[in-house]
Amino acid sequence: MKKILVTGGLGFIGSHTVVELQEAGFEVVIIDNLLNSKIEVLDNIEKITSQKPEFFNLDLRNKKDVNHFFNTNLIDGIIHFAASKAVGESVEKPLEYYENNINSLVYLLQEMRDHNISNFIFSSSCTVYGQASELPITENSPVKPAESPYGNTKQIGEEIIKDTCKADHLNAIALRYFNPIGAHESIKIGELPLGVPQNLIPYITQTAAGIRKQLSVFGNDYNTPDGTAIRDYIHVVDLAKAHIAALQRLLDKKNNQKFEYFNVGTGKGSSVLEIIHAFENVTQQELNYQIVGRREGDVTAAYADTTKAQSELNWKTEKTLDEALKSAWEWQKRQS
Ligand code: UFG
Repeated sequence: MKKILVTGGLGFIGSHTVVELQEAGFEVVIIDNLLNSKIEVLDNIEKITSQKPEFFNLDLRNKKDVNHFFNTNLIDGIIHFAASKAVGESVEKPLEYYENNINSLVYLLQEMRDHNISNFIFSSSCTVYGQASELPITENSPVKPAESPYGNTKQIGEEIIKDTCKADHLNAIALRYFNPIGAHESIKIGELPLGVPQNLIPYITQTAAGIRKQLSVFGNDYNTPDGTAIRDYIHVVDLAKAHIAALQRLLDKKNNQKFEYFNVGTGKGSSVLEIIHAFENVTQQELNYQIVGRREGDVTAAYADTTKAQSELNWKTEKTLDEALKSAWEWQKRQS
């Protein structure tokens, strides 16, 4: 049985990936510092899969602890989610973002080199493309200067990994996520935003639940059919499965290059108003919203060309937008 380390394995995408890994027959060990996650998630993973992953409450910036971990655990591959991810916060606290996201990545790669571990999956983001000049966005779209320190940590992260692949025995795949939403069908794990949500779907579900008074729609003067911005919203379980496909590609040595990257989205764009109406429709909840000004740093439209992921990872989405929105609402109801 292959043993896979999942860093940030108690977070939103991490926890869903742990479930899919266990269900695909991998042994999972999690490192998480609980900075933006809750320990209860570990029990909830076990409730879904009937297997408790091994768990280490470690901070990857702590070199000594990380070194001890690798000296005492034999690992076949790593999926690295652990990172800070709030775009707005990263603008206020750039150094914290660089320290956390970059140092932890570098230390992890050093341990991989020293312990001869060669399979690495990295959480990247479609934010690396900025406002792409052509839609849908293929992997050939140029990487644009980052709009935020958070986005920059993803770009720098990819560069660090690419250079390491050239120098060492590392084989890596960066998955460039579009907008992950929804919750596992068991409704035992889901997104747990800290404080006021920054992202659209948790803000919508909290508004429907009465936790927030009103949803602000950031701008209706974009150059899109209804004037609101367009994104590619992917069910988190579909996204989790893309990690298994990417990992399997490395374990089977089927990768064409030492460093590869794939867009992971549905291929379909939805506007903010379309999302609101779809949510109202599947949940029969009326949403209180108003149009306000644009949010700084937002692009007009981003949705993925998924051809490369489909053909090379042999992966495609299986769930619909309605299923994702419904599961997000079911999850919200469990929280309140
Ligand atoms: N939006 C609103 N109101 C809200 C929140 C969001 O109208 O209260 C709009 C945004 O303006 C945007 C869309 O909903 O048009 C989606 O916004 P999110 O914040 O949910 O997602 P983003 O596309 O801005 O950000 C996501 C991830 C980032 C990642 C980025 C890459 O959260 O981590 O995609 O584009 F960097």
